[in-house]
Amino acid sequence: MRFVDLIEKKKKGFEHTKEEIDFIVSSVTNETVPDYQISAWLMAVYFQGMTETETAYFTDAIIKSGDIIDLTSIKGGIADKHSTGGVGDKITIILLPLLAACGIPVAKLSGKGLGHTGGTIDKLESIPGFRTDLNIEELIAKVKEIGFAIASQTKKLTPADGKLYALRDVTATVDSMPLIASSVVSKKIASGADFVVLDVKYGSGAFIKTEKEAEKLSQLMIDTASKLGRKFNAVISSMDQPLGRMVGNSLEIEESIDFLKGVCTPDIKELTYEISALTLIHFKKAKDKNEAFSKIDSVIKNGQALMCLKKLIKSQGGNPDITEDYSLFKQPGISYEIKADKEGYVKNIDAYKTAHACKLLGAGREKKTDDIDYSAGIKLNKIYGEYVKKGETVATLYSDSTDKLLSAIPEAKSAFEFSKDKPVERKIVYRVI
Ligand code: URA
Repeated sequence: MRFVDLIEKKKKGFEHTKEEIDFIVSSVTNETVPDYQISAWLMAVYFQGMTETETAYFTDAIIKSGDIIDLTSIKGGIADKHSTGGVGDKITIILLPLLAACGIPVAKLSGKGLGHTGGTIDKLESIPGFRTDLNIEELIAKVKEIGFAIASQTKKLTPADGKLYALRDVTATVDSMPLIASSVVSKKIASGADFVVLDVKYGSGAFIKTEKEAEKLSQLMIDTASKLGRKFNAVISSMDQPLGRMVGNSLEIEESIDFLKGVCTPDIKELTYEISALTLIHFKKAKDKNEAFSKIDSVIKNGQALMCLKKLIKSQGGNPDITEDYSLFKQPGISYEIKADKEGYVKNIDAYKTAHACKLLGAGREKKTDDIDYSAGIKLNKIYGEYVKKGETVATLYSDSTDKLLSAIPEAKSAFEFSKDKPVERKIVYRVI
């Protein structure tokens, strides 16, 4: 088989056979084809798409390109979730201790930030000493010991996705439905969990822009998983505005700790409770949503969820006292407060612009190899629906350099829109499938 013929075939919109898909993925994994040919094929897929059958073959081939984790030694089954990427998205850090406090084991592999979106691993690494480089044996041992653990995606898992993703990132081919679906579903199946909730986001801060596209992507991922013998669920939610008040690595850990102490914004609560309830019902820890919600309330009120986070931090090498003393995080060098120049209600905070401002402050990477500043980021002092008086602080920017701060201020300011009238109550969950 010649790779160039397969590019030609996809360019003309024809369907690949299983043998062709296997050849493409093995050529990527074994690096027997140059990046320019893979990139050309990715662009052909971007424009021509893939059928559901092709997507399932492609996903299966990516799974088989590396190790498949066997978690069957952990009794009671394993839960997992995967976000398609967002801004201020700290749901995993809140969800895992909540589920652990409800007796549901989680062995989670997460990634670093991608494009403008943040990564759970970067956030956790802002806790001094916290190890994310666990190997699979360590991950399983820690789940058996304290009920849950979280590690950085290993290179041995779905290596074809690692290579394809890096190329997609630099060839403007990330936002393709079959490519996203195969990337996400392959990682989740190879990670070995029994029950997976996909946290699918749409809006200015997501890779997918509309509810309808998010619905299509969710269904494609659920159908692809089902073709490969697995049952996935999806919660579709808006990522037009950042989640919560904090965007930035250590800031988001602080907000996650606050959540587990009972202090939270309505958007984070709505999404976390929805994903938790689906999982609790699946693991028969609750018979319906009401019972699930009251279980979640009780593990927050009685401190068990916070205790679980402390156990996780200790188990992975960090100091659990950080949950009581935020000065143990690296502190930012300088800060700047953006003031409202007129009174009104916050009508919108653009998620993409907020993420871009955070990147300019040093919280994200331009290139994979860049260092990030864990203390950089933005605190949204005012969020959707809140009233602001003229001269009040709407956001606080943190960085370690004046130049970075100066470059981020106009972008952060332009993210805010105000209105005279109080906006209607905002719900972010669009649909659960
Ligand atoms: N997240 C992934 O893991 N893969 C994608 O392609 C997009 C978001």
